[in-house]
Amino acid sequence: MWMFKLNIWAFLWLFVGQYGAFALQDVTADLFGAENYGTVAAFGDFYADKQTDIFIIRGQSELVIFLADSKIPYFKPKVNITKDIFPRDAVITSVVPGDYDGDSQMDVLLTTTIQNSKMTNVFIFWGNNQTLDLSGKLMLNKNFTDQPLVMDFNGDMIPDIFGVTDSVPPLFTEVCYLTKRVQRWEKALSSSVDMRSPHSNAFIDLNRDFTADLFLTTEGPKFETWISKDGNFTKEEVTLAEPPVKIIGQSSFVDFDGDGYQDHLLPVCLDATCQRGAIYMVKSGSAEWVPVLLDFQRRETIWSFVPGKPSQPLALHFGDYNLDGFPDALVVLRNTSGSGQQAFLLENVPCNNASCHGVGRMFQILWDQSDLGAIQNAVMATFFDIYEDGILDMLVLSQAEDKHDLIIHALKNNYEADAYFVKVMVLSGLCFNDCPEDVKPFGVNQPGPYVMYTTTDSNGNLKNASAGQLSQSAHFSLQLPYTVLGLGRSANFLDHLFVGIPRQPGETEIRKKEWTAIIPNSQLIVIPFPHNQPRSWSAKLYLTPSNSVLLTAIALIGVCVFILVIIGILHWQEKKADDREKRQEAHRFHFDAM
Ligand SMILES: *[C@@H]1O[C@H](CO)[C@@H](O)[C@H](O)[C@H]1NC(C)=O
Ligand SMILES: *[C@@H]1O[C@H](CO)[C@@H](O)[C@H](O)[C@H]1NC(C)=O
Ligand SMILES: *[C@@H]1O[C@H](CO)[C@@H](O)[C@H](O)[C@H]1NC(C)=O
Ligand SMILES: *[C@@H]1O[C@H](CO)[C@@H](O)[C@H](O)[C@H]1NC(C)=O
Ligand SMILES: *[C@@H]1O[C@H](CO)[C@@H](O)[C@H](O)[C@H]1NC(C)=O
Ligand SMILES: *[C@@H]1O[C@H](CO)[C@@H](O)[C@H](O)[C@H]1NC(C)=O
Ligand SMILES: *[C@@H]1O[C@H](CO)[C@@H](O)[C@H](O)[C@H]1NC(C)=O
Repeated sequence: MWMFKLNIWAFLWLFVGQYGAFALQDVTADLFGAENYGTVAAFGDFYADKQTDIFIIRGQSELVIFLADSKIPYFKPKVNITKDIFPRDAVITSVVPGDYDGDSQMDVLLTTTIQNSKMTNVFIFWGNNQTLDLSGKLMLNKNFTDQPLVMDFNGDMIPDIFGVTDSVPPLFTEVCYLTKRVQRWEKALSSSVDMRSPHSNAFIDLNRDFTADLFLTTEGPKFETWISKDGNFTKEEVTLAEPPVKIIGQSSFVDFDGDGYQDHLLPVCLDATCQRGAIYMVKSGSAEWVPVLLDFQRRETIWSFVPGKPSQPLALHFGDYNLDGFPDALVVLRNTSGSGQQAFLLENVPCNNASCHGVGRMFQILWDQSDLGAIQNAVMATFFDIYEDGILDMLVLSQAEDKHDLIIHALKNNYEADAYFVKVMVLSGLCFNDCPEDVKPFGVNQPGPYVMYTTTDSNGNLKNASAGQLSQSAHFSLQLPYTVLGLGRSANFLDHLFVGIPRQPGETEIRKKEWTAIIPNSQLIVIPFPHNQPRSWSAKLYLTPSNSVLLTAIALIGVCVFILVIIGILHWQEKKADDREKRQEAHRFHFDAM
């Protein structure tokens, strides 16, 4: 038996030997061919084929939807909204795909501004039969002071449009519902809000009750949290100190320390010209800003953030590129003594400095990423799962001197490691098998669902991770319509996976379902239908066997064959011995007979 064991150990050693190899590979040509220009504005499964498509703004006033395809180039420009559809001088500032009318087909919301005007106009193009109905566009009959937040205000799993429409104080928030393509406006929050512009408002669960709350960024700079109390948003009186900084970036929410709660991360500049950057974090329920990245020096060069512009805000984009269960980030930094700009990966590592002790984790800049460094004048960088294999790849946008449009670079993440993930996409659950007109309920980009897992890691410790789906929509937040949670190297079944969705006002039951024993490396599509009966929700499982799983399978089959051969040999020998015995017996019989 020890020989089989040795065999298995040899295989295991092979996997472990591979652990940690990380390399990027430029796959731009495979993905886009010669069409790799424009500003990546949003992601969503427009074609409802479970493949994420890419929404790209070109020439400031055109939208091109690149649909995922199985042949090179993997993304092809298929659906266009050309500039003659908009008023003259209109500039597209953001794109938010979503199912706004509740027919389970993806519509496209565009915000535009007209030069010299502060107000934002909102257009909606209705999706129909996997394309856009260009003639029947809707322009909202109120304008917003900034890009609106797409969220689910009334918990009906149809995205709503939230923002400030007044232009003279006091500024009250309003929400616009578009169910069945009928425009309906309602006053949203009970007190006035002096919203910051650009805002980084978020629709995310802040108290781990699996119901999305509302986070607002206001002038000051200050922050407001409106907790969903049985579906009603109620302002929470927390006195979070103003962060000790001069320039403030966009807030983001991730589970930075892996405790299942969402943490608030904020990139900032410590001085007015942004010579010194920092990233601060506040834990859920805490009022203390903890620095998680202060060290921006590499040899003689000091790097720092690029002060935000409306079209390129100072923001972090999160994703767990190494599947260790702790979210990492992509950011663009500037050489403070020169003029170069590059994208960098910030890896989430255990804290090794007294300053971040209270959090236990911190960021470390990965300086030696030659593939990222090769992209000059980067202006934006984000994560995207190119081949839908659960490993997050990267898209980097760069500015070329003589071109108006940005250049898109796609970098594949060849993370060859024995690390595992679970990829979860929560759909609207408005229909299931019986969708009207036989549509597939996939491409809906649902804001608000919350996903959390708890499991035991390889050391036997309890480990949690959580994420909100599409918590932010404005100012190029570039969130993915699914969540990828890394599981680290523990190949065990995932003990518990919880999924929760927003609630309707007055609903006291939490809408949450738990799944147990989820196989790692699976992609889960959760259909919360019907919304108020979590017991009936279903999850479709798609497996992505990783290399190591395949190798294990081969090893197992090999061992089985080996055992079979040995059994065969033993059997044959026994049979031979049997035969011999029988023959001897026969002889004896002969002798006896004589
Ligand atoms: C959309 O635009 C792209 C590039 O501008 C072009 O190649 C493609 O033919 C257009 N498609 C349609 C349907 O107009
Ligand atoms: C949907 O579009 C396809 C081609 O794109 C067409 O063959 C089909 O008839 C359309 N279906 C409906 C219901 O319009
Ligand atoms: C919104 O803005 C557009 C263009 O800037 C303008 O034509 C329209 O009248 C505005 N709507 C309202 C309600 O002010
Ligand atoms: C994970 O969550 C459980 C409760 O669900 C809690 O008991 C445990 O302490 C958490 N683990 C960590 C590392 O925060
Ligand atoms: C930063 O810019 C300075 C001045 O142009 C240059 O000497 C230095 O090499 C640059 N650092 C890097 C890492 O590119
Ligand atoms: C450690 O923290 C101190 C402040 O407490 C800070 O000045 C220093 O830069 C930090 N070192 C690193 C490597 O982050
Ligand atoms: C929630 O809001 C609705 C409508 O404003 C109100 O009727 C209801 O009483 C509120 N519920 C709670 C628990 O505050």
